[in-house]
Amino acid sequence: MSNRRSFLKKSAVLGMGAFGADSIFSQLHAKSFESAEKLWNPAGDNEQYWSVIQDAYTASKSEILILNNGGVSPSPLAVQKALDVYNKTAAQGPSYYMWRVMDKGREPLRQRLATLGGCDPEEIAINRNATEALNTIIFGLPLQKGDEVIGTKFDYPNMMNAWRQRQLRDGIVYKQLSFDFPIENDDEIVKAYEEAITPQTKIIHITHIVNWVGQIMPVKKISQMARRRGIEVIVDGAHSFALLDFKIPDLECDYFGTSLHKFLSAPVGSGMMWIKKDKIAKIWPLVCNHEPTSADIRKFETLGTRSFCIEQAIGEAINFQEGIGTKRKQERVHYLKKYWAEKALQIPGVKIHTSLKPEYSCAIAGVSIEGLKPTELDSKLFNDFKIHTVGISYESVQCVRVTPHVYTKLSDLDRFVGALEKIAKKV
Ligand SMILES: Cc1ncc(COP(=O)(O)O)c(C=O)c1O
Repeated sequence: MSNRRSFLKKSAVLGMGAFGADSIFSQLHAKSFESAEKLWNPAGDNEQYWSVIQDAYTASKSEILILNNGGVSPSPLAVQKALDVYNKTAAQGPSYYMWRVMDKGREPLRQRLATLGGCDPEEIAINRNATEALNTIIFGLPLQKGDEVIGTKFDYPNMMNAWRQRQLRDGIVYKQLSFDFPIENDDEIVKAYEEAITPQTKIIHITHIVNWVGQIMPVKKISQMARRRGIEVIVDGAHSFALLDFKIPDLECDYFGTSLHKFLSAPVGSGMMWIKKDKIAKIWPLVCNHEPTSADIRKFETLGTRSFCIEQAIGEAINFQEGIGTKRKQERVHYLKKYWAEKALQIPGVKIHTSLKPEYSCAIAGVSIEGLKPTELDSKLFNDFKIHTVGISYESVQCVRVTPHVYTKLSDLDRFVGALEKIAKKV
């Protein structure tokens, strides 16, 4: 590309950010997405449509088949390019390009994240990951000695550890429920939380999609039950945001945290926190601000010097997400999971550890082969077939976790099922 064209492209990206007419998404994908849209058949096979989406991800051509998109996801090319342009520009003088130019992109980004989350932008803080978002809430809540928090043994370790630290430091009581997943009965789950409540219970912590094995928790029903009893609810949406088709306020919770580098496919190191408007003032920021008791959500963004390039490239991931639509994405990813899992179930010795019903799971499913430990199956998949998954051996969950994404091809999943078949035959 000539220097002048490259300069113009860079100026367009910096001037209007991801939300101008000349966004990198528009430059790279608008035409192909438009043509693909014309191929969409609500009643039938849409593999041609999905091949356009797959091609937009360089990871779809990777030699290693990545089936751990639940851990962290690759970005489509538009997001990679945006990050590249922002990084190269910032390298010319971050104190000017980051602090004076890119900084102006934060409010439009907040607005678009709020649109995606179906909420008020004044309830959204942009940060670096779900751990930061949820630790901000956990450590920011004004809890007293003896106050009780109900979570589960299947919440994410970083959040369980945060609650344990509050227990040690502040004398709160941290209770953890246990479940035998999969469970295809919301009432059973709601009842377990309800039965653990005492007059001292102040908080319920819920993991929207349980990372260990993919169970979708009935967040709204738990929140409604908790509200009737004056208890606040925190939701860990690391695996649900930009995958399940919901609006954050519909969950009826009080606090929500997520990473954006999982299903939104934003750059690694991007996250978001949502706090219900009337609760913002009482949450202490984790990293101090000059107005710690303010009701302005921006008090949580005094994070020191960090990459505004990563933050700004989130915008292109939102463009990409909107180009597909969350409902369509949820249905596709669930279809991909069901596609491989139903084939795998035909193999003698194979067990699926996750419900295949769309109300109870989406992208993630656990699989095991009788006679093999999760780590053994995970290693065989990688060493013999170059398939990357993750072995889970935790509490009652003993399986390999498999997570496709929109860029995963049916042929990739056939390759995976073929590998399971060959491994199962040798056990
Ligand atoms: C349920 C859940 N919550 C939170 C996290 C933490 O995400 P991050 O590492 O982006 O902070 C993860 C990571 O996999 C997770 O699975």
